[in-house]
Amino acid sequence: KHVAILISGGGSNMMALLDSMVGDHPARPCLVLSNTAAAGGLARAADRGVPTAVVDHRPFAGDRPAFEAELMKPLLAARPDIVCFAGFMRILTAGFVSHWQGRALNIHPSLLPLYKGLNTHARALAAGDTEHGCTVHEVTAELDDGPILGQARVPVLPDDTPETLAARVLKQEHRLYPAVLRRFASGDRRPVFLP
Ligand code: GRF
Repeated sequence: KHVAILISGGGSNMMALLDSMVGDHPARPCLVLSNTAAAGGLARAADRGVPTAVVDHRPFAGDRPAFEAELMKPLLAARPDIVCFAGFMRILTAGFVSHWQGRALNIHPSLLPLYKGLNTHARALAAGDTEHGCTVHEVTAELDDGPILGQARVPVLPDDTPETLAARVLKQEHRLYPAVLRRFASGDRRPVFLP
C-alpha cells in the first residue's frame, strides 16, 4: 500500500508514520505534501528519501476549490492507496474529501466526539476533564467527524497547562497513528484503543 502524508508543520506525526513503515509493514510512504514551504516536516521527509511537494494555499486565498485542484495534482501523481492527514491545518471541501473517502485518515488531539476544531487542550482543561487524549478517524466532509479508527487516553493532571497536556497527548499520537495505519493498511477496520 502506498501512503501519502499531508502536513502543515513540524511533522512529528509524519515522522512517527515514516519510522513505522518498515520491514513487514504492509505500507510504504509515496509522498509528503504540504500547503506551506515553511513546514519543517518537508526537510525531515526529504532526509528519509520520501518525495515531497508543496502547494502554497496563499495564492488561492478565498478560492478553496482552486487550491484543492492544485493540491490534487501531486497527490494524484503519487497514486496513493491511503492518505494520512498529520497536522494538516487547512479545511477541505466535501468535493476534495469525497474523492478520498474511505481511504483518508486524520489524527485529532481530543477524544472525539469531544472538542472538534481547535484549542482542544485548553477546552478540556476549562471543562475540568480528568481525562483527555487523541483520535484517529476517517476523513469525511464534516470536520473531525468521521468513523473512529482509534483512540489513546491520557490523564489530565491538576497543574496541567495547555502546553503540558498537549505534550502528553502528542506522545500518544505518535503511538496511536502508526498502530491505526498498520491495521488500516492490512484491511482491518476494527478500531485501536491503546492502553
Ligand atoms: C499537533 O497539535 C497535533 O496534536 C496535531 O497536529 C499538530 C502538529 O502535529 N495532530 P505534527 O507535529 O505536525 O504532527
